[in-house]
Amino acid sequence: MRHGCAEPGERFPDWERDFARSAPLELEIGPGRGGFALEHAARHPEIDLVAIEARRSDCELIRARAARRGLRNLAVIQGDARLLVPRFFPAGSLSAVHLHFPDPWWKTRHHKRRVIDVELAALLRRILKKGGQIEFRTDVAAYAREAERTWLEAGFEKLPDVPPEVLSTRERRYAGKGQPVFRARFENPIPGGDVRPVEITGRTGREWRDVRRK
Ligand SMILES: C[S@@+](CC[C@H](N)C(=O)[O-])C[C@H]1O[C@@H](n2cnc3c(N)ncnc32)[C@H](O)[C@@H]1O
Repeated sequence: MRHGCAEPGERFPDWERDFARSAPLELEIGPGRGGFALEHAARHPEIDLVAIEARRSDCELIRARAARRGLRNLAVIQGDARLLVPRFFPAGSLSAVHLHFPDPWWKTRHHKRRVIDVELAALLRRILKKGGQIEFRTDVAAYAREAERTWLEAGFEKLPDVPPEVLSTRERRYAGKGQPVFRARFENPIPGGDVRPVEITGRTGREWRDVRRK
């Protein structure tokens, strides 16, 4: 690129410079008010965590709390993860991705906003290291089922269940009410992989339906 803007995937942030060290890099998509991001970063000073959240007020809240707690291993970026993730992380750069309670976007005309789909799965196969993990939680049964199918079809391997070390903000509320949560972890056996394009499978991974619980 000699003139103009870099294409997606051409140039990436220098995370080692930004965090002032070389450490395993993790990503949280949609941290909301940051219950998980703050606690996970505090418990794991050996990792650096990038959290991408669409809502500006949530980003400011997490940043303020991180500053009060003196957390230097958490970076909060405001924006749409679907646009930013391919621009932020080169192939094989991430050790883990955390995705907790992504918005279900119930209305049919909003299904296209669902974050987990075959494109994200293929992208995560590329940018997670060998052995890198996706850690996924939802309270929506169909989302759990369809997302699992999407990760597996993209070539991820399911890991045995383990109790969560840290609950997300929403999960703490559900735990208080005894509401069920679906949790699953998947490992990238080797970066890249063969992902059948939507044109062949006809499946985006976003077309599921479920009963909306109030
Ligand atoms: C239901 S909340 C869950 C928040 C948090 N993970 C938790 O468990 O408490 C979903 C969050 O994802 C954020 N979000 C939705 N779409 C997003 C996107 N494309 N990029 C980044 N954040 C997104 C929303 O703003 C919201 O904060």
